[in-house]
Amino acid sequence: MAASDSAQDQAAPYGGGSAGPKRVRIRHFQQAKRDGVKITGLTSYDHLTAGIFDRAGIDFLLVGDSAGNTVFGYDTTLPVTVDELIPLTRAVARGAKRALVIADLPFGSYETNPREAVHTAIRFMKETGAHAVKLEGGERSAEQIRHIVEAGIPVMAHIGFTPQSEHGLGGHVIQGRGDRGAAQLLRDARAVEEAGAFAVVLEMVPSEAARAVTEALTIPTISVGAGPHCDGQLLVWTDWAGLTTGRIPRFVKQYAQLAQTLEDAANAFREDVSSGEYPASEHEYE
Ligand code: KIV
Repeated sequence: MAASDSAQDQAAPYGGGSAGPKRVRIRHFQQAKRDGVKITGLTSYDHLTAGIFDRAGIDFLLVGDSAGNTVFGYDTTLPVTVDELIPLTRAVARGAKRALVIADLPFGSYETNPREAVHTAIRFMKETGAHAVKLEGGERSAEQIRHIVEAGIPVMAHIGFTPQSEHGLGGHVIQGRGDRGAAQLLRDARAVEEAGAFAVVLEMVPSEAARAVTEALTIPTISVGAGPHCDGQLLVWTDWAGLTTGRIPRFVKQYAQLAQTLEDAANAFREDVSSGEYPASEHEYE
């Protein structure tokens, strides 16, 4: 039996470590939904954080186009390119021994037609070692999803608030509100499931709308600010760890305050160098 078919590998992603599979695969997402086991995901943009989150048993790492903001300093995710994301995705894939690594297709790399979408998805799979791709859009992206899946590449869909369309949506606005909004969200969710997506991110939608979608679908729903009823939770790691210094969405729970910790450390280093406290006397280096 191949390593990927071992009993351990077939287990659901029960928080990682020795209890979980050796490598999380898309079938574990299905299994987790069936067993009512919550899935966890974080974004990652580099080898070091990928290794840390992987060792902690995070089930999937998304090399999000949020790298446009967090790594490259753009105001939105729109400018980030395939060529900018590929090296980051490669670094994350090298650092993740267990987690499923998902490459985000950036704005302008898949919308025009399914052929373009398949071409971009193949580039990520071939050049990075990612295990799946993610793209934004429900009904409007269903054909792209269908063709990428037919090419043998797993797709995570992303509906609700889709940052690549933030100008079209009128800013950072909650989606899926009211009867019409909830009905559109459900149509989008059904379209991506029918097209073959293995999971769907619901970003910034009311928790009751997210509950309805989660109950209607057989694929897992992953919440980004969509409340507790989804099958899993995903956060942008720099928000989650308190490294982001700008605006942080209200739904984010911060599990650390890394910006302050690093600023304090940099101040302490500068003061030690100024005062001669660091480096210590020469004989310690002989
Ligand atoms: O790019 C990203 O980080 C994302 C998540 C917020 C879903 O798309």
